[in-house]
Amino acid sequence: MSKQHWSAAEKRRLRRDAAKLVIPHFASNAELAKEPKIFVRGKGCYVYDLDGRKYFDSFATLLTTVCGHVRSEVTRAVQRQMEMLEFFPNYVDAFTVPLIELARKLAELMPGELSVSFFVNSGSEANETAMKMARQYHVERGQPHRFKFIARQDSYHATTLGGGSVTGLTWFREYFEPLLPGCVFTKAARDCDRPAGMDSKTYGRRCLDELEKLILFEKPDSIAAMIMDPIPGSNTGYPLPPEGYLQGVRALADKYGFLLIFDEVQTGFGKTGKWFACEHWNVVPDIITIGKGFTGGFIPLGAAITTPKVADVFQKKPGHELRSGSTYGGHTTACAATLANLAIIEKEGLVENARRQGEYIRKVTQRLYDHPIVGEVNGIGLLWAIKLMADRQTKKSLDPKLGVGSWIRDWCYRRGMILRNNGDILILAPSLIITRKETDYLLGMVEQAIAAASRHFWKR
Ligand SMILES: Cc1ncc(COP(=O)(O)O)c(C=O)c1O
Repeated sequence: MSKQHWSAAEKRRLRRDAAKLVIPHFASNAELAKEPKIFVRGKGCYVYDLDGRKYFDSFATLLTTVCGHVRSEVTRAVQRQMEMLEFFPNYVDAFTVPLIELARKLAELMPGELSVSFFVNSGSEANETAMKMARQYHVERGQPHRFKFIARQDSYHATTLGGGSVTGLTWFREYFEPLLPGCVFTKAARDCDRPAGMDSKTYGRRCLDELEKLILFEKPDSIAAMIMDPIPGSNTGYPLPPEGYLQGVRALADKYGFLLIFDEVQTGFGKTGKWFACEHWNVVPDIITIGKGFTGGFIPLGAAITTPKVADVFQKKPGHELRSGSTYGGHTTACAATLANLAIIEKEGLVENARRQGEYIRKVTQRLYDHPIVGEVNGIGLLWAIKLMADRQTKKSLDPKLGVGSWIRDWCYRRGMILRNNGDILILAPSLIITRKETDYLLGMVEQAIAAASRHFWKR
């Protein structure tokens, strides 16, 4: 058992060195100046900090721990693999048994014809790979002029330079211009943005018309692929697409001959109450990218999975192989851990649990509208977002300078719950093992926090 108690002096040193010797991902110097948070232990939906305080993690450890923390099944699988062969790279013509078994499992789980995997270490790399696959696919088919990518406003795909180029949020792009040439953006197409009085199907059609105009303006035979998340992630609060939108995008990709990439890094592996979000609309992309919950947070792993039609181009003849790779992509022990993670999801019926808890959350969150600052609640399965607003009718935002979302996050943290907020969007996205009792706890805590914020900021 590793160390569980630290003296006051050791804690001070750990906190000092954390802030001094490490640049955290997406760092907040303002938060760091208060005190770095250091976590030392986890179990199920809970983590414990350096002082032994216990927290319910309503963000599933950055949306990864579908099966919760510290699962003995995974620990045993990792130990077995470590003792046999911890790692051999998946390069040139070399494979390992867990990697092949994982590819088989993915072929079984994936919708449609998606069945051929390229393994990487993260969701970002999966998206980089998908983009490269799309470009090389067209080059190999004699259409090198197809180099552009269509992406969506407000989307998040990576902070790498390729993935960043198709990310539609300014914060991730602004210091790094010029990015990859030929990345163009269409409307986000969120049903919650639908004008009052317009039905969902009509709004979907309107978004598709705009997309088609963009395709024609850019010239259809210059487009390699469209990359999109069927349900955009926590950055924008899980807005669902309007009716017919995803089917329409698929039809446009087929009509104009570009590939469709679905980024399911955040939405895959049961989070929406189905294995993959795209299954809610029966739309299958040409490439799907995965990460996060795929490996359950145990050891990093991602993948870009494509159809035999696309993979054939790279697999058939010498000289046409996909020009991509890394040392650790498809790490042997990561594959063993991921197989164990997927086995738990299946054995414990976690996809069904996400669906069931999601239906309950849908009902219970209706009562949040009693609070005037709750503007919108969007989501599905175990991915939910509460958008705080100054005025629900006009959708007027709260004054960002007030920092209401962060105040609520801190209120919850002081009471033992980790809550992710993106400005005034509050995210509820726990592990798929969550019980009804824990769901009630989570919803109760958020509601109390919203009520406390209303009293604090508006004395109501
Ligand atoms: C939708 C989506 N795509 C891609 C990524 C990038 O994945 P990673 O952080 O594992 O590189 C993320 C991460 O938040 C994501 O939410």
